Amino acid sequence: MEKILLIDDEADVQYSFRRIFDSPDIELHTASSGEEGLRLIPILRPDLVITDLRMAGLNGLETLKRIRQLDPKLLVLLMTAYGTTQTAIEAMKLGAYDYLLKPFDVPKLKALVQGALKAARDMRQAVVVQPTLEAEDYDAGVIGRSEPMQAVFKLIGQTAAAEATVLITGESGTGKELVARAIYNYSRRADRPFLAINCAAIPENLLESELFGHEKGSFTGATQQRIGKFEQCHGGTLFLDEIGDMSPTTQTKILRVLQNGTLERVGGNGVIQVDVRVIAATNKKLEEAVANRQFREDLFYRLNVVRIQLPPLRERRDDIRHLVDYFLRKLAGPGGKPKQIGRPALQVMEAYHWPGNVRELENAIQRAIVVSKGQAILPIDLPTEVLAGTPVTAASPGAIVAADSSPGAADRPAAVAAPATADFTALAQALFRLAKNDPKLKVIPTVERELVIEALKETAGNQVRAARLLGITRATLRKRVEKFGIRQELDVR
Ligand SMILES: Nc1ncnc2c1ncn2[C@@H]1O[C@H](COP(=O)(O)OP(=O)(O)OP(=O)(O)O)[C@@H](O)[C@H]1O
Ligand SMILES: [Mg+2]
Repeated sequence: MEKILLIDDEADVQYSFRRIFDSPDIELHTASSGEEGLRLIPILRPDLVITDLRMAGLNGLETLKRIRQLDPKLLVLLMTAYGTTQTAIEAMKLGAYDYLLKPFDVPKLKALVQGALKAARDMRQAVVVQPTLEAEDYDAGVIGRSEPMQAVFKLIGQTAAAEATVLITGESGTGKELVARAIYNYSRRADRPFLAINCAAIPENLLESELFGHEKGSFTGATQQRIGKFEQCHGGTLFLDEIGDMSPTTQTKILRVLQNGTLERVGGNGVIQVDVRVIAATNKKLEEAVANRQFREDLFYRLNVVRIQLPPLRERRDDIRHLVDYFLRKLAGPGGKPKQIGRPALQVMEAYHWPGNVRELENAIQRAIVVSKGQAILPIDLPTEVLAGTPVTAASPGAIVAADSSPGAADRPAAVAAPATADFTALAQALFRLAKNDPKLKVIPTVERELVIEALKETAGNQVRAARLLGITRATLRKRVEKFGIRQELDVR
């Protein structure tokens, strides 16, 4: 549940906000004046303040100034009628998050509010490094016990205290953004704003003005002056995500801010001084881009003052079990009972090469929780590509165990994700591969035995229900139990 405080002296506006934000996820509070709003902020601790500009008593701009003194991290959206956008822009210079024009375009308003709430969440949710997995009440952590991650944690600690620019590199989904937020949380700027901008998500021609702002009339479509993220984030930390592809002009401008803390808005001629700590990230090989002259070498060295290279998940397989534990708890929610993971499923996960890294693992767990029917997650609950992309070998009795001992296992591409009905084909293929590798395996009886064991585990030994789950008669099930000599061996952690 997120709290929004609306400060507006018009009852109509308050009414329409109540209707627009009538949602179980949002708690909307209202204040009819700047003074009342300021009184309510320490009591309500809202995630976002939306204030009108023109009000009797304290106006929006003064209210904003005082909010910034009270809590520099609290995000403020300004509302303004068309005629007063100049003042709204002044407000942006004072650190307002953005402004909305009245009358509202409701979808735009909602999108802006969602964006602001996300930014507020990211800022307020402290990312801790390697929380003890026993603690119940963490929800944002960088998990990892492996050696490469220990080295990352050390670097986070060392660089957080310094003001240096940090460059975080690593494949997609390795946690670059999470690490950026951890650095911010441990830094001296933790009580100042943190803003993130995804450079790849913004069209090239707009990125420059998004970062540095522009003057009215500086290009077609620049109908208003705009304050850029660097200026807005004065005193804080700016996370420049996907820094790999930027135009030469933008690169030059970024270099200049990093070197002497100055910038010019697009089409402007005044020099503006800013104090912003930059944390940059990319999944591209910047060294190659430098070699190909796509990325300025001097900018690269300026960004690369401190480099944090996040290892891909397949190079720190020891972390998988900890991450699985973490996500099972996290996804169960506070007070929820986390699902367990069966050892076979964990082994499959530990053997998979995770091209999408931690993000892919998190998604796999999320899916497994949804599809899993029992108390514990089984291999069949895992996404097809995880099962099929895993080289399977025969192993200990009582379990289909995956291992990645075959050469090149880590580099093997995942099978294309197939719809749920094709799960069995993929599974059969994986099993058949196993059979081919080891003709002594007797794949059909082995699988049959496993299925019977799983069904009995699931039903706590109830043969009638187990038979039903497997689509066979009880008599057949009993025959299998005898034939395979199955006893109740519960292999669930
Ligand atoms: N070490 C970790 N511990 C816990 N969660 C993690 C860890 N690494 C990544 N995650 C989670 O995995 C997801 C992806 O992480 P993040 O967005 O930081 O990756 P990224 O490297 O920025 O990816 P991309 O290059 O695709 O933007 C997030 O939900 C994040 O919380
Ligand atoms: Mg990212």
